[in-house]
Amino acid sequence: MFRTQLAGLTLPSYIYNASGINNQVLPQLRKIADSASGAVTLKSASKIKWKGNDTPNYLVKSKFIPGCTLNCMGIPNEGIEATIEFSREIKKTTTKPAIISIFSLGGMQDYYDMMDLLEVNQDAFDILEINVSCPNIPGKPLLAYDMDALEELVKNTFKYTFPIGLKLPPYFDISQFDRVSKIILNSKIQFISCSNTIGGCLVIDADKETTAIKPKNGMGGLGGDYIKPLALGNVWNFWQRLQGKVAIVGVGGIRTGTDAFEFILAGADAVQIGTTWAQEGIGAFQRISDELDQIMAEHGYAEVSSARGKLKLLE
Ligand code: DHB
Repeated sequence: MFRTQLAGLTLPSYIYNASGINNQVLPQLRKIADSASGAVTLKSASKIKWKGNDTPNYLVKSKFIPGCTLNCMGIPNEGIEATIEFSREIKKTTTKPAIISIFSLGGMQDYYDMMDLLEVNQDAFDILEINVSCPNIPGKPLLAYDMDALEELVKNTFKYTFPIGLKLPPYFDISQFDRVSKIILNSKIQFISCSNTIGGCLVIDADKETTAIKPKNGMGGLGGDYIKPLALGNVWNFWQRLQGKVAIVGVGGIRTGTDAFEFILAGADAVQIGTTWAQEGIGAFQRISDELDQIMAEHGYAEVSSARGKLKLLE
């Protein structure tokens, strides 16, 4: 099992759970803590407890999109206060980093209020991942596509003393990679996770002539196999711009050890597993880790840092 470093902390495995999947309440979090996952990421929390969107809102194993998920849960969660308590509980029984994730149901102030609360509860968690990439809060824009808003949020993280990363949405254009990299290099952000789901995707049940999920006129965020090339492209684009000064966590369509290895080559310091964990269950962390061990050995790499970003270009 390959260890890695994130935000100055050691993760016992390169592979850990993505936020959003089976990590809302304590029994689920205990299961992750007891698994081969290298960290325990908690479900994104909002300032208040939130019930999320109407069901059906999540396609996990659908014949319409094999190997993928479509998610429009709208982040049901127990609220930041309960989430902090869950994290504190989890930390009693594991030495793996506990990663709290937050998102805002309203404006920017919610983020600041939650970070103020985290500042005085630092014993309860290790790392904060700010989710600026949820596509599914009805009536709210996806924050990280508004560069001025992203810059403002990031600037206001300077006063906090705990490690902070950003969960980014997929970007598509060079101008976005340039601007986001500049914002991050001028900040105290220690890592970025890229990429979250592709928002605004539609799955249709043609027999019934209906949408496959209920909220947002049938649209949700796509995860899994189809998004791997885009996630890899995001990691590779950021790797070239961040110059090793900010860590990168790869996420999007990692199903096998080979997938994880590709993310290392593209520059990832760690990877998160979402869809595969949802579809295969908790054993996925150990299986992918074993497969990665084998591939790294075959390629003669003894540690992640010697393979990271070593993708070769065709002459
Ligand atoms: C949801 C949240 C996300 O961050 C995402 O990428 C997709 C879906 C949600 O809960 O709806």
